[in-house]
Amino acid sequence: MCARLPMSLAVATSPPTLAAERAEDAEAVERLVFAAFGPGRYAKAAERLREHGEAPLLDCSFVAWDGPQLVGCVRQWAVSVAGAPALLLGPIAVDPAYRRHGLGGALVERACEAAAAAGHKLIVLVGDTPLFGPHGFAAAPRLVMPGPVDQRRVLAKALASDAPPLEGPVAAA
Ligand SMILES: CC(C)(COP(=O)(O)OP(=O)(O)OC[C@H]1O[C@@H](n2cnc3c(N)ncnc32)[C@H](O)[C@@H]1OP(=O)(O)O)[C@@H](O)C(=O)NCCC(=O)NCCS
Repeated sequence: MCARLPMSLAVATSPPTLAAERAEDAEAVERLVFAAFGPGRYAKAAERLREHGEAPLLDCSFVAWDGPQLVGCVRQWAVSVAGAPALLLGPIAVDPAYRRHGLGGALVERACEAAAAAGHKLIVLVGDTPLFGPHGFAAAPRLVMPGPVDQRRVLAKALASDAPPLEGPVAAA
């Protein structure tokens, strides 16, 4: 009988590959996000922005594949900060069996690189400093999210020297 490898070993020997999200990945992305966050996700302030937005920017959103299985995702959306264009990063989710191997960090890095390459100047998000801090995100105490939020979790990363100031309301684009 052929025993399955423990998942951690499988991850170590065959790391997932990252690719830009495609329209046809949406269902699998939603499944992963729902499994990671549960229905509480829809109460989040960041979700207020996304539900009015058109769709994620696919060239700045990424998925991680282990063979045919979608095991990680990060999305970015067009928003405005005090009227200036910016991106909202999130949600980000990694399948529990693949966590703590650097995949979340790799998705953040790839999303930031793609955003900079596409000419975006600022990324904002609501998230955890231990995950995002090492990738250049810092607290943005003067950004105002559209809904209740732990202000300490409002983070931003400027991608250009002429990025908009980190103050004012974050709104759907
Ligand atoms: C958050 C999440 C995407 C991280 O994915 P990951 O592949 O485990 O991320 P990484 O392996 O790149 O971890 C990078 C760092 O983030 C931090 N981190 C990741 N998960 C963490 C957790 N559950 N608690 C505290 N810190 C965490 C750690 O500092 C970690 O570095 P370390 O492993 O060297 O200590 C994943 O845990 C997940 O899907 N969680 C559920 C959904 C969620 O909470 N999304 C993020 C909201 S901000």
